[in-house]
Amino acid sequence: MENGPHIELAFIEWGSMKYIQSLALRHDVLRKPLGMIFDPAIFPEEKGDIHLVANHGDWLVGCMILTEAGNDLKMRQVAVANKYRRNKVGARMVALAEAKAIEMGKQKMVLHARDSALDFYLSLGYYIVGDQFEEVGIPHHRMEKAFV
Ligand SMILES: CC(C)(COP(=O)(O)OP(=O)(O)OC[C@H]1O[C@@H](n2cnc3c(N)ncnc32)[C@H](O)[C@@H]1OP(=O)(O)O)[C@@H](O)C(=O)NCCC(=O)NCCS
Repeated sequence: MENGPHIELAFIEWGSMKYIQSLALRHDVLRKPLGMIFDPAIFPEEKGDIHLVANHGDWLVGCMILTEAGNDLKMRQVAVANKYRRNKVGARMVALAEAKAIEMGKQKMVLHARDSALDFYLSLGYYIVGDQFEEVGIPHHRMEKAFV
């Protein structure tokens, strides 16, 4: 397709059908490759978070969670379905998350990036803060982007 698939971004409610769909995507993209088993339970601790998804028609093809952390907003669980990658779905979700953070009066966006995703975040103006560390058994770096 010349312009790529038509993808629409949306903020969704915790516990909604879309949220349940996002759990399946998170499992497929973020957990299954690490050999983790599917946990059908929803996460009560995510109730207070902001949930953002990318839809292609009825298909949920991207998701992200935003958690308030004082003056910062923390981006977590960023996932784009394999066959939709390199279509700017991730970049659009990050841009919308940043707009939300600014609207909320936050000073910066922070995240723990898997090293395999460093180039993605670097391309979007994020910078590495500190040394490599391990999370869920794989190397990560803390990354940030300040708005002021
Ligand atoms: C990381 C991820 C979210 C990127 O989503 P995406 O929709 O494919 O990314 P985009 O198309 O918006 O990419 C924007 C830019 O980031 C960079 N980029 C994205 N993926 C890249 C890759 N695999 N290698 C190098 N650069 C990459 C490129 O500069 C790209 O622009 P370009 O396609 O014009 O060259 C997706 O690959 C993914 O879900 N990966 C597995 C899960 C994961 O690692 N999540 C992040 C955990 S911290």
